[in-house]
Amino acid sequence: MALSMMGCGSRIGALLASALGLSPCVAYASAPETATAAASAFHVLSTGIEWQHGPVVMRITVLRDDVVRVRIGRNGALPEDASWAALPAARRASVAVTGFSTADAAGFSTGAMKVSVARRDGGVTVTDRTGRVLLSDLDGAVLPDRRGAGFTITKAIPDDAHYFGLGDKFGPLDRLGRSFVMWNTDSYGYQEGQDPLYKDIPFFIGYTKGGYYGVFLDNSWRTSFDFGKARRGELTIGADGGPVDYYVLAGPDPGDVERAYAWLTGTPAMQPLWALGFQQSRWGYPTERDVRSVVARYRHDRIPLDAIWLDIDYQQHFRPFTVDPGTFPTFGRMVADFTAQRVHTVAITDLHIADLPNAGYAPYDSGMAQDRFVKTGAGQPYVAPVWPGPTLFPDFTQAATRAWWGTLYRQFYLEDGIAGFWNDMDEPAIFETPTKTMPLDNRHRIDEPGFASRVAFHREIHNLYGMQNHRATYEGLLALKPDERPFVMTRATYAGGQRYGVTWTGDNSSTWNHLRLTIPMLESLGLGGFTFSGADIGGFAGSASADLLTRWIEVATFTPIARDHSDEQSLPQEPWIGGRRHEDIRRRFIEARYRLLPYLYTVAEEAARTGLPMMRPLFLEFPEGLLDGTPLDLATGSQFMLGRALMVAAPPTPESPGPYSVILPAGGWYEYWTGRPVGGLRPLSLWGAGGLFITLKDTGPAAPHMVSITPRLDQLPVYVRAGSIIPRQPLVQSTGETPRGPLEIDVYPGANCQGSVYADDGHSFAFRQGVYSRVALSCTVEADHGVAVTIGRPEGSFQPWWRSYRVVVHGFDHAPHGIGGNGGNGTRPIPVAYDGAAGSAQFTVSADGAANTYRLRP
Ligand code: GLC
Repeated sequence: MALSMMGCGSRIGALLASALGLSPCVAYASAPETATAAASAFHVLSTGIEWQHGPVVMRITVLRDDVVRVRIGRNGALPEDASWAALPAARRASVAVTGFSTADAAGFSTGAMKVSVARRDGGVTVTDRTGRVLLSDLDGAVLPDRRGAGFTITKAIPDDAHYFGLGDKFGPLDRLGRSFVMWNTDSYGYQEGQDPLYKDIPFFIGYTKGGYYGVFLDNSWRTSFDFGKARRGELTIGADGGPVDYYVLAGPDPGDVERAYAWLTGTPAMQPLWALGFQQSRWGYPTERDVRSVVARYRHDRIPLDAIWLDIDYQQHFRPFTVDPGTFPTFGRMVADFTAQRVHTVAITDLHIADLPNAGYAPYDSGMAQDRFVKTGAGQPYVAPVWPGPTLFPDFTQAATRAWWGTLYRQFYLEDGIAGFWNDMDEPAIFETPTKTMPLDNRHRIDEPGFASRVAFHREIHNLYGMQNHRATYEGLLALKPDERPFVMTRATYAGGQRYGVTWTGDNSSTWNHLRLTIPMLESLGLGGFTFSGADIGGFAGSASADLLTRWIEVATFTPIARDHSDEQSLPQEPWIGGRRHEDIRRRFIEARYRLLPYLYTVAEEAARTGLPMMRPLFLEFPEGLLDGTPLDLATGSQFMLGRALMVAAPPTPESPGPYSVILPAGGWYEYWTGRPVGGLRPLSLWGAGGLFITLKDTGPAAPHMVSITPRLDQLPVYVRAGSIIPRQPLVQSTGETPRGPLEIDVYPGANCQGSVYADDGHSFAFRQGVYSRVALSCTVEADHGVAVTIGRPEGSFQPWWRSYRVVVHGFDHAPHGIGGNGGNGTRPIPVAYDGAAGSAQFTVSADGAANTYRLRP
């Protein structure tokens, strides 16, 4: 075993000693290697390495080739091996490693990365298999915070670095040069740069030298991330307390980093199909009659709708789990009437239980009887004002409290037929308090398998509180209906909360800047696992102009969750507000979303299965980036991918009708709305990151290009990647309606041409038993410029609604003169229709369950 001493002059040595109340040169004076056992030492483990220096112990273990975990204890022992975010199976996983030792360092290699620990100060350097340095400590393994329980980790920022992620931060996608705090906060009307907001997702993706990697700090205390803002070239990660426990995910492909993060913290909960439909909400539908008239108007105006949301208006004195019989006199019948119109009802059920002794308020009575509430530092139930006035706060970190909470949904979920629930204010938000939340010394109890049972103070639980509220609702609904996918939306959460469902970006504003920044915000949530996210369409605070609402609906057509919601104080914001012209545009976009549902659902299922988000920054699909490898997103900001095939190019300054440039990454593109190959291509030239003017010399068809466009208000530019196949369906007014006609398969020929269509019953877990249908689709451009389309044999036992496929092949500048092939490689001709204006050829074939290849010959 190698022994070495930390130099007395090192920053970590001095700080460690001072934090421990020792003089550094007494405690850590250099000494011969053999002199004392209190010096630094390495212990080689079969799955990693341990470094020890006085009371500091650091263990680095390999969970799988591309995932390492670093844990540091500062009092002679490692922190408790427990986590609300990282799954037990992932934390238990391990692979054997090959160790090495040099004069300065010791470490190990896996198939995907190399980890080296400096003898001098425990500084960790992680490189990937190509030798690219992902992370390297500047000040040793960790610096204790001078205030006591906290710590700081400082890593070098390479010259070409960029950073993405951290959840609902409100600014540009790239986090470089900025700093962030993680402390879940009620942030009504937040604006650009305001921080912290509602969620704590301490996971980011780093970029350097053409590759990507991930870092996840599993610490629920107040934490901070500084990406070179305080000091250029230094990335600091700090916390007020709690464990030093972080994971490095090697990449270099950013999609692999996303999949590894999902392996570690869980995939997002698969949503019911209706969650992808259009949803209407408002704080300020004061009566049942108002809500009914909104639903009626949707159906009358033939605007598709899948869900109507009930905000706190329906409750008696804003008390959760009550209904005001004065304003909502036939609540159950109303929900049933909506169900009959194929509209799902979602109800808000905030966590704050009104402090109402002896009033027959069941949530209070049962919660008190079972001792289910958070306590003050002095041990009394903590009472503070929220919507109903004085309220109590369930102690969600106890499994028994979550089970009790779940029972509160019985009436709404089983009897009234409410389809989904909304957990708001769970930062937790508290009124009339400068901190907007509870005292930090409030007492929660951790009573949870895998954790030591103990009392924990609010400073540790705060950022977990919303996640455990969300979890309690999700698991409660599952207990009530074990075979239904719960739909639960939360405002606050922590990493891993994606396992319980949906979130949204909170109280945004009805401004153009909010619409603009919604794109990076939703992308960042998706990178952090929360792919099922939306922003209040039209903005929450303030009133949207007709133009703003129209543009917002256009963009939201292509975001995972599309819910129109607004504040009590704002003017009405439903799709018909602002006149017929606007309503027609908005309807057309909402209809486009419904026609696209087979694709949306296929992408959603991929996200729930693999962790790859639905809405993707360009770098996820085109990691090769620009010239020097710079992520493409730095040059656009308003372009995003929806799945692998679609690219939305929203106006970067959405209030302006002016022209702008769209970057078309290498490989060729079609226009979504016309199906025609994109014309007017220009060689790519732009201001790259770092202020360099980039002009691509390669102007061949395979190079990235630009187009300059000036979309009118009724147009949103959307492009399809050449080599894609997109399934679409006939228009319906709700996902509960069975589409009539064939499944449309739009083929956009190009290299590596592929797609798929996934379907299942849309609401149960039968897909886990194989009751689903997945059809692989592919195409090849043949030597004679013909196109062969292959529709695979369906996998799984589910029978989808379609009986035939209408195949539309784009990109023909004249009619293909025949088609050969059906039933494998047969030669039976099939009638083909050619649309010269669209440049597309189409034919309809039966979905007979066999694999078939069809050929269009020029
Ligand atoms: C919070 C929510 C908002 C909701 C309001 C009333 O501000 O973020 O969406 O409408 O409370 O419940």
